[in-house]
Amino acid sequence: MSFLDQIEPLKQSALAEMRNALNAPALEQARVAYLGIHGKLTSLMKQLGTLSKEEKPAAGKLINSAKAEVEAALTERKAELDLLASSPKEPSDFTLPGRRRRLGKLHPLTRITEEIVRSFRKIGFVVADGPEVEDEYHCFDALNTPADHPARDSQDTFYVRNHSGDLDHRSSSGLLRTHTSSVQIRVMQKQQPPVRIIVPGRVYRRDNADATHNPTFHQVEGLYVDRNVTVADLKGTVEFVFKELMGSETRIRFRPHYFSYTEPSFEIDFSSALTRKMGKEWLEIAGCGMVHPQVFENVGYDPEVWTGWAFGFGIERIAMIRYGISDIRLFYENDIRFLKQF
Ligand code: DAH
Repeated sequence: MSFLDQIEPLKQSALAEMRNALNAPALEQARVAYLGIHGKLTSLMKQLGTLSKEEKPAAGKLINSAKAEVEAALTERKAELDLLASSPKEPSDFTLPGRRRRLGKLHPLTRITEEIVRSFRKIGFVVADGPEVEDEYHCFDALNTPADHPARDSQDTFYVRNHSGDLDHRSSSGLLRTHTSSVQIRVMQKQQPPVRIIVPGRVYRRDNADATHNPTFHQVEGLYVDRNVTVADLKGTVEFVFKELMGSETRIRFRPHYFSYTEPSFEIDFSSALTRKMGKEWLEIAGCGMVHPQVFENVGYDPEVWTGWAFGFGIERIAMIRYGISDIRLFYENDIRFLKQF
């Protein structure tokens, strides 16, 4: 076979082998077989030198273009094989449902707080706010609880250092509020009656944590001041809200009690399917009373003109009864297994 006649068949078989190579090693084998130092195309090129002067130019041109074609086929197949290698091995089913990220939820205490707020809003109460780092005046003195009053012992708290670095027991700054009642004073100092507020918020006591106590917990305070406000208004309001919170068959009762900032004062018990589930007919749930005239004097309201009532209760306690939770500490542990149940 003449030199020229060998070029075309060799090119064709080289192209075929490159294009049909199933993977990178097979392609490399084909490259070596044709374009390697001892490859078939390379060998043929080496024979160029043996040709006559007249034959050389045409033969050289032909073999060079054959070589270029084979090299292009090699590059192309290599790109195809690379792409194949980086593609998923298994077929994709695009009709499968996606991986859903679960929505977060509100903490049970936040939910109950929002529910309480919603109920009071229906009857015209607005939310008020105050500082958690309080002073003794707003937390105790203005609420008719002077320094030597025994009621202070039951609400011991954390005192914080003032700017001079002294532990501040006597001057007017630096304690973590023991109840949200302090906000009553702040609101009344700022505005004239009528007042209709509720105050949800965090409070602090020097208590050891156990199943029913935590040094930090939450309360809602309520205050209503207007002309001719009576205990009947208080009882009707409390009844409305607790029926909303604990079910429409909820009953409440008032027991006489003592708070220094109300007179008369009561403790509120309630009874519902929830209390019976806990094995009790009545469960104590809140404190309340008619605002003490001295408190009105302290904020500059005339007690001859204005009357009012106030109440306070713990949000954790409501949540525990509602959800049947037996340990208050579960609220603060941030355990997903607990939280995702709500
Ligand atoms: N401050 C009381 C407490 O922390 C709760 C309370 C009782 C608030 C009677 C009131 C009230 O406004 O009238 O235990």
